[in-house]
Amino acid sequence: MTEPLVAVIDLDLPGATISRHLYGHFAEHLGRCIYGGFFVGEDSAVANEGGIRLDVVEALRAIRIPNLRWPGGCFADDYHWRDGIGPRESRPRMVNSHWGDVVEDNSFGTHEFMQLCEMLGADAYVSGNIGSGTVREMSEWVEYLTRDDDSPMAALRRQNGREQPWRVPFWGLGNEAWGCGGNMSAEHFANLARQYGTYVRNHGDNTVYRIAAGANIDDYSWTETLMKALSHLGCAQDPRGFYQALSLHYYTINGDWADKGDATRFGLEDYYVTMKRAQHMREIVRGHANVMDSYDPLHNVGLVVDEWGTWWNVEEGTNPGFLYQQNTLRDALVASVHFDIFHDYADRIVMANIAQTVNVLQAMILTDPDTGALVLTPTYHVFRMNVGHHDASALQVRFKGAVPTRAVEGEELPLLSISASTTEDTALVSLSNLDAEHAQLIVLDLRGRALAGFAATVLTAGTLQAHNTPDRPEAVVPVAHDGVRAHPDGLAVDLPPHSYVTVSLRLV
Ligand code: AHR
Repeated sequence: MTEPLVAVIDLDLPGATISRHLYGHFAEHLGRCIYGGFFVGEDSAVANEGGIRLDVVEALRAIRIPNLRWPGGCFADDYHWRDGIGPRESRPRMVNSHWGDVVEDNSFGTHEFMQLCEMLGADAYVSGNIGSGTVREMSEWVEYLTRDDDSPMAALRRQNGREQPWRVPFWGLGNEAWGCGGNMSAEHFANLARQYGTYVRNHGDNTVYRIAAGANIDDYSWTETLMKALSHLGCAQDPRGFYQALSLHYYTINGDWADKGDATRFGLEDYYVTMKRAQHMREIVRGHANVMDSYDPLHNVGLVVDEWGTWWNVEEGTNPGFLYQQNTLRDALVASVHFDIFHDYADRIVMANIAQTVNVLQAMILTDPDTGALVLTPTYHVFRMNVGHHDASALQVRFKGAVPTRAVEGEELPLLSISASTTEDTALVSLSNLDAEHAQLIVLDLRGRALAGFAATVLTAGTLQAHNTPDRPEAVVPVAHDGVRAHPDGLAVDLPPHSYVTVSLRLV
């Protein structure tokens, strides 16, 4: 009999804090994410408060949603915030040219977004318009949101019914400036980011963490240019610089952008290619982190992965501009692998936002356009199982022996992904068995602290293609896992094929 693989975890050696903001979200005016997803309007038959769906809020509160990025995406650089304030019936309309070429009536605007954040208990991450907006426009938006005196913008906010300023901790300076956000060169954008960042002011005790639109995938030279733009003024290590973080976007697709693969109809080889593409996030993060390290060894500048997740071909019969896709067990494993990578780079990645929360791309929640029924996706359940990692300290996982691999597109794909974290008297270990056909047995060699108890949860299904629908909302849901037992070194853990398992430990 072959010896089981051993994963050594030193429970008494906590590392960097895994910010809860790594579990952040993204909601764009795209398809049915805002309209029909978050916002149904006050007259809807779906239970709501101020037009905001209560079931969606409740589901997201249950996974402790830490922040929400809005209004885009590409939409952000077309969005003029003054169109979304004041009486709804007199708000101007616009064309959402990026997403379906539909008419946007601006009924969901600044006040609705901030109300949503308050209901969710989430921090606001507002994405400001650099592509087609002015410096003044951005500066006034911050003033409108966060200022507490009789300044012109604070007075306008009061006139629109909100007395107290809001807290807005995160601010995006543009989005994908290399593409839909203005097709700029890195040098041109770096200058604009410094300029706009200057006018995104801290009002009162609201301190804004400014995030400059960063690189696409492995465009390390974009990151280098933005880091240089801080460092030649000696700001890279000064948290009071023009921007405090850079973003990064990377999506997992299966084919190419012309044919990204189907969400539910895929074969075994497609699955492994997907897992390889998901794991590619590690290489990309490492590359950007290396560039950042060379300018900022003290890690004062954050990396914000504010768009990540799977991007499949849209579901048949849906608007191609609405990016609506189903979500299977495969998507859940893409998510769990990403979190392992984010945990490993917790000393550099300060935030991550899956794209997108409701009805768009790798969503947590799908809502039926006709009945309004809500379905929680397998990806949602990974977020739920990982709540224990929020603000915990990362623990290193070292393997004794070789992790099994499989050849995929000429490279060896690791078939196991593990990460762990600890708080004062608990630890959480996350294990993804990416082997679609075989179970794995792992011994957790737990050192440095004694165990007072453990409990485990597993997310899996009969097939990789399994997904939840209004008719079968619980086809893929986490259940208690009885495949964990005491072992002389710690715990032995059975991992069923294509499964995600979390083991929570109580520590003495
Ligand atoms: O998430 C969908 C789109 O993907 C976003 O609007 C854009 O930033 C990215 O290209």
